[in-house]
Amino acid sequence: VHSGCVRAEISYIMVKPDGVQRGLVGEIVGRFERKGFTLRGLKLFTPGKELAEEHYKDLSQKPFFKDLVDYITSGPVVAMVWEGDGVVKSARKLIGSTNPLEAEPGTIRGDLAVQTGRNVVHGSDSPENGERETALWFGSGSVEQWQPALAPWLR
Ligand code: TYD
Repeated sequence: VHSGCVRAEISYIMVKPDGVQRGLVGEIVGRFERKGFTLRGLKLFTPGKELAEEHYKDLSQKPFFKDLVDYITSGPVVAMVWEGDGVVKSARKLIGSTNPLEAEPGTIRGDLAVQTGRNVVHGSDSPENGERETALWFGSGSVEQWQPALAPWLR
């Protein structure tokens, strides 16, 4: 809560290096735009090892952790912040299951990916992680605060 104004929920969404290299950025961004969420931040860059390790720190004891960090740091990602009521849970639904073979058709992973280790997109798993990951990838207070010029019934 900032000076009487409650900021809506945010999710950190990232097109992973395979998504960028396969030319899926527009497709993935478009799904969040068409759903009706508001874009708060977006940048393309290759993350370093430290950033990737901090992002996935909860998984640091997993056997796939090193491969995961190598994958995420292998090339540019598109880092984004999307805002809206219920955006965290909704984005997870739009993205689909971690294993793309189990993800429903119509979801990003269900439509566009095959391997768990190449599942094209990340989405925060809780509102708290939405805030944490946004601060980590964009710095706190650095995302845009614009309002879309849409009538309220289109938001
Ligand atoms: P996780 O947070 O469990 O999934 P999600 O991305 O759906 O929130 O895992 C993070 C990433 O780690 C996942 O997107 C792909 C990778 N991963 C593997 O490579 N192997 C695995 O067995 C799991 C569970 C995840």
